[in-house]
Amino acid sequence: MIDVLRATSSIVAALAAGASFVKPASSIEQALSMKSQNIVVAGERNSVKPPGFDLGNSPAEFAEQNLKGKGVVLTTTNGTAAIEKLNCQTLLAASFLNLTATLEYLKKCDHIHVVCAGSNGKFSLEDFLLAGYIASLDPDPKDAAAVAKRYAQSVSDILNEIKKSFHACHLKKLGFERDIAFSAQKDIYNFVAVLKNGVFVKINI
Ligand code: MLT
Repeated sequence: MIDVLRATSSIVAALAAGASFVKPASSIEQALSMKSQNIVVAGERNSVKPPGFDLGNSPAEFAEQNLKGKGVVLTTTNGTAAIEKLNCQTLLAASFLNLTATLEYLKKCDHIHVVCAGSNGKFSLEDFLLAGYIASLDPDPKDAAAVAKRYAQSVSDILNEIKKSFHACHLKKLGFERDIAFSAQKDIYNFVAVLKNGVFVKINI
């Protein structure tokens, strides 16, 4: 599952900051109902932190926290909504931040489905770019996977590329430019974010 800007990057950054888990929630109400001393409620609507939330959906902000001993409940417009619709044996939250670890994990899997969250039902360039790196695991990809692989191979500067996306421009206008730069970093973490019993946990590679 991919939502580079910003849900899956946030999930990975929260786990890196020490969160014991990240639970996707479907609504603001559901997320707030879980708030407690050891549960941080985070997320966005229209990219902005809803009232009463502890944190927004900012990977850069997550990375600055000390979340040791805490769980995070995250609700976002596209990313966590897409995660809830998926039904598969193993679900990973993929990001550039932990790309190599994610690819190493996926190499051991027989069948891989790559799901891009996109933005309100529309194609997202940054998600397709990351999908291309994953498609590169296939020596003979077909159709969309073949195009994604060629696209990823043609891009030398991830940040420069994803800055051109519609959602990056939207985030920049809202003052979240640092999340674009943060999410474009490749391999700053060496673990995978795997969904187990309804929550994402960190598995070291
Ligand atoms: C989403 O899940 O819709 C996004 O991550 C939106 C955002 O916070 O930029």
